[in-house]
Amino acid sequence: MLGDKSGMDALAPLPLLAGLLEDFSVQAAFWPIGRDLRRLRDLVRREGPVAAWRKGVRYLKWKVPAEALRLRMLWLPRVEDRFTLIYRTNLWAAAESVSGPAASLENTAALRRDLPALFDRLGVRSLFDAPCGDFYWMQHVVRGRDLDYVGGDIVRPMIEQNNARHGGPRCRFVHLDVSRDAVPRTDLWLCRGLFSLLSNADSRAVLEQFVRSGTPYILLSSHRVFDGPANENVASGDFRYVDMRAAPFNLPAPLETLQDRYDEDLCLWSREQVEAALRAA
Ligand SMILES: C[S@@+](CC[C@H](N)C(=O)[O-])C[C@H]1O[C@@H](n2cnc3c(N)ncnc32)[C@H](O)[C@@H]1O
Repeated sequence: MLGDKSGMDALAPLPLLAGLLEDFSVQAAFWPIGRDLRRLRDLVRREGPVAAWRKGVRYLKWKVPAEALRLRMLWLPRVEDRFTLIYRTNLWAAAESVSGPAASLENTAALRRDLPALFDRLGVRSLFDAPCGDFYWMQHVVRGRDLDYVGGDIVRPMIEQNNARHGGPRCRFVHLDVSRDAVPRTDLWLCRGLFSLLSNADSRAVLEQFVRSGTPYILLSSHRVFDGPANENVASGDFRYVDMRAAPFNLPAPLETLQDRYDEDLCLWSREQVEAALRAA
């Protein structure tokens, strides 16, 4: 029944409504409802109205309170307060880590396997990991290595907790905003999962801090699969897809690429490459 033409016609207004809502830039202020309506249409076509209804209700039970919280978060003027609220409410709703689903042990299996070999190839003896989040998965990479580790994050209570739980002579955590504060010089800066949560201006400011730091290499997340526009200029705290090789970043081909999750990579660039891209922008 769903495959027939009348069923498809009945669903035709959904994407139309989605387009209308997007045209009026509702996306910027509210949840990207247009994308959800398109998904609902596809679900009805794929699984039928009964299954779609059940899944839709379950989704809305999670989505409505999460969206209310997201709006409350974006209403806060200070970026630090936004990420502190995300931390305190576990807004990304991941079971294992307050740093979100991408920080689970399953989702970091490839990186936990591949990062040590990259450190060896680059001769990394000191590492700046910012944002470090709750150090949930990175502790397994750092533990037992001949490495001076500095983790940095904008959420002060998380940094205090990390220092209490994991701090030691060669492992410390600092509270900082990497788009504003000076960052330590190390052999490598690991910057995973940050630019997809920052505005373009704040992301550029982070790249400038990297160049100023004197650190020779940076590992940055870049999406490979997109379920929305890349490099959309969101308010810091919100989510967007990031392609570091596209405008406004325009970084060249990375020196190395590590596959991270199914939809993103961690890409290695040198300070010279980043500096040249910033100058050309
Ligand atoms: C998705 S988590 C990623 C954490 C970690 N890299 C990981 O892979 O698990 C993003 C983190 O960025 C932090 N953050 C956001 N803006 C920041 C900024 N300007 N300076 C430092 N940390 C920031 C947030 O507090 C949050 O812990």
